[in-house]
Amino acid sequence: MNILEYDETMKTITITWLGHSCFVIEGSKRVIIDPFVTEGNIPKDVDIVAVTHGHADHFGETLSFSAPVVTMNEIAHWLQSEGRAAEGMNIGGTIEVEGVRFTMTPALHSSWLECTGQHGFYGGVAAGFVIRMDDRVIYHAGDTGLFSDMKLIRDLYHPEVALLPIGGRYTMGPAEAMMAAEFIGADTVIPMHYNTFPAIEQDAEMFKKSVERTTDIKVQVLVPGETIEI
Ligand code: NI
Ligand code: MN
Repeated sequence: MNILEYDETMKTITITWLGHSCFVIEGSKRVIIDPFVTEGNIPKDVDIVAVTHGHADHFGETLSFSAPVVTMNEIAHWLQSEGRAAEGMNIGGTIEVEGVRFTMTPALHSSWLECTGQHGFYGGVAAGFVIRMDDRVIYHAGDTGLFSDMKLIRDLYHPEVALLPIGGRYTMGPAEAMMAAEFIGADTVIPMHYNTFPAIEQDAEMFKKSVERTTDIKVQVLVPGETIEI
């Protein structure tokens, strides 16, 4: 938090990592992002589901929720055609759902929906989200490579916490995520999208040491199911 923005009435929200890229953010509302895990259960009593792109390790259990889904237009259209509640949007736009604001950010990645049968379909471009709830700001980068316009996310939205992939191969690895953390300027970074599969094995503690040695940013390495309060 920027000292100029300090406010004693600031509300507390919690961030729970369920594994991979799946987080529950809870304040006055409960939001789940990218509901896919390899172990444990995903809570279904949420107010909003946010999906960054169509890949199975993010779209996950989206079809098992009754809550509205905030996602890229192409995916939202398909959900609506299936009779689901979905709020479509696109890069750079902001919508408010149940008092929670979602701004869709770019992600350097692809998107394909595999859950619809043999061939699946193109899910539009991949994205990330800046989520503002109870005047707190969280950035979930989705799956992405590093891009320098992450500086615009800092300048425009001032995220307090950044959820960044570090797994490599399909996304940024730790070296790129270190630079991303500096571009975004959040006080706290939580690494995600690593160690779920052998192809994305990384040493998150090493990432933490490297970031904290060279910047003022705090890295919170969570275990699946762990919650932090901000
Ligand atoms: Ni992906
Ligand atoms: Mn992924």
